[in-house]
Amino acid sequence: MCSTIKTGTKTYMSLYPEGSTDGGLRLGNIVPDFSMDTTHGRFDSFHEWKKGKWAILFSHPADFTPVCTTEIGRLALKYDELEKMDCLVATLSVDPVKSHTEWLNDVVAHCENKIEIKFPIIGDADRSISTAYGMIDPGTSDEQSLPLTIRAVFIINPENKLMLSLNYPACVGRNMDEIVRCVQALQLSYEKSIATPANWPNNHADILMPDGTRSTEFKGSVFLLPTVSAEEAKEHYPNFHTCDVPSKIEYLRLVKREDVENKGYNEFLEYVQS
Ligand code: BEZ
Repeated sequence: MCSTIKTGTKTYMSLYPEGSTDGGLRLGNIVPDFSMDTTHGRFDSFHEWKKGKWAILFSHPADFTPVCTTEIGRLALKYDELEKMDCLVATLSVDPVKSHTEWLNDVVAHCENKIEIKFPIIGDADRSISTAYGMIDPGTSDEQSLPLTIRAVFIINPENKLMLSLNYPACVGRNMDEIVRCVQALQLSYEKSIATPANWPNNHADILMPDGTRSTEFKGSVFLLPTVSAEEAKEHYPNFHTCDVPSKIEYLRLVKREDVENKGYNEFLEYVQS
């Protein structure tokens, strides 16, 4: 029996279940909805708040702590770039909103008053959101001052599906460039049959060509997915380059980023699976 499947991150993610069977939150799941008290007021539904957009939900362990102070400041510096990518930002800790509001004066001052906090910070004082998203174990008691939320990042697509998550411990501050890079990679691969290599866009800066010369033309290029047939690759990406490897299997097929971005047609390539 034959069936067709589509490719691209959006389609790959649809192969995962929308709901988990054990209460855990995994990639591809629809993220739990919640009402939220924030530094920008109360919202009845996170899903409604982000409706139709990409969003980052970003947790920090505690207000008035050093690493968190730098993280919120650095995230604020990335806000305009993320907004241009149609990606909303909300952050969260188990501190009440009043604490967040007071703390933000320090955050802004520590960035020499050069930032504005344009995203809401959620006060998850009852830990219900942190528990639903697996940032805190549901077995921990309310009386404990610890555990605090881990440093988590959830990147959520316009259909409210979890596309990527990062978990860091309290002692390691996150790199905001990496978070923006992840959103860019997800959006680029969302409806295209491509995947981003390690260290993208700082990849394949100088590669060996079949004639023995070296080329810098493929710096920042991306890979065609294995689901793209040789015929489809030739038809849609005539300029792709296959890297030679000892196995002689032609799976390292590089496509320039501009060739992916400039494609005018809706590229939901299909392939036949038997
Ligand atoms: C910090 O942000 O510096 C921090 C927060 C909680 C525990 C440890 C460090």
